[in-house]
Amino acid sequence: MGQTSVPRKRKKPSKLHAAAPPNNFTAAYFRKFYLTAATRVVTPAEMHSRAALISSILKQCQIPVRRILDAGCGIGLLRKPFKQIMPRASYIGLEASPYLCDRFHWVRGSLVDFVPRSAFDLVVCYDVLQYLPDAQAARAIANLSRLCRAALYVSALTTEDWRENCDRSRTDRAVHLRTGTWYRRRLSKSFRYVGFGIWVRKNVTAVLWEMERPGPS
Ligand SMILES: C[S@@+](CC[C@H](N)C(=O)[O-])C[C@H]1O[C@@H](n2cnc3c(N)ncnc32)[C@H](O)[C@@H]1O
Repeated sequence: MGQTSVPRKRKKPSKLHAAAPPNNFTAAYFRKFYLTAATRVVTPAEMHSRAALISSILKQCQIPVRRILDAGCGIGLLRKPFKQIMPRASYIGLEASPYLCDRFHWVRGSLVDFVPRSAFDLVVCYDVLQYLPDAQAARAIANLSRLCRAALYVSALTTEDWRENCDRSRTDRAVHLRTGTWYRRRLSKSFRYVGFGIWVRKNVTAVLWEMERPGPS
């Protein structure tokens, strides 16, 4: 007689990332991730070059920028560089954190349902969407297409970033990790991808040489 096989217990898949309880974006959060050199996730110099990159690409695409919305602007690290690089553009910071709104006088509201008086030429949404659960993130992306009349800069920590790219000792783990495809599928309903995190509304003309466009590698 052959051996009877005892069903083996299935090994529980190890979690790539276990989300901690959500933070509430208090002073302690910004001290740790933005203000303390030893633990911060980004420096003012990096944010300056990010602002320079965004404005150069939009200039090259001949997209004029008069009104900027920084949705989930945090301590406003992009405000000064945008002022220096595009002095004629107005900057509005939208924030859900009561602490930040009291401290910096940002417009208080949520990216999920904020309705401005008029749309913005450039909307920046940097490192914000990963804080929203799926349904809210999907609503926020749909709202981005109402807030933005020309260009959008988006970046959010993805599953791949967590696995391969970020420095976990400096990255907040209390987030909702999704794939880049999850974001791209929703963004591409209203926007066309230009590159480096920049999307342009489908009804806006941005002529790029074929070899400058993102494409299959
Ligand atoms: C990781 S910080 C990024 C701050 C800023 N974008 C930067 O990169 O310097 C995330 C910010 O998003 C804000 N936030 C989170 N959910 C939001 C929402 N639904 N609407 C607007 N802001 C939100 C938080 O208060 C926090 O300031």
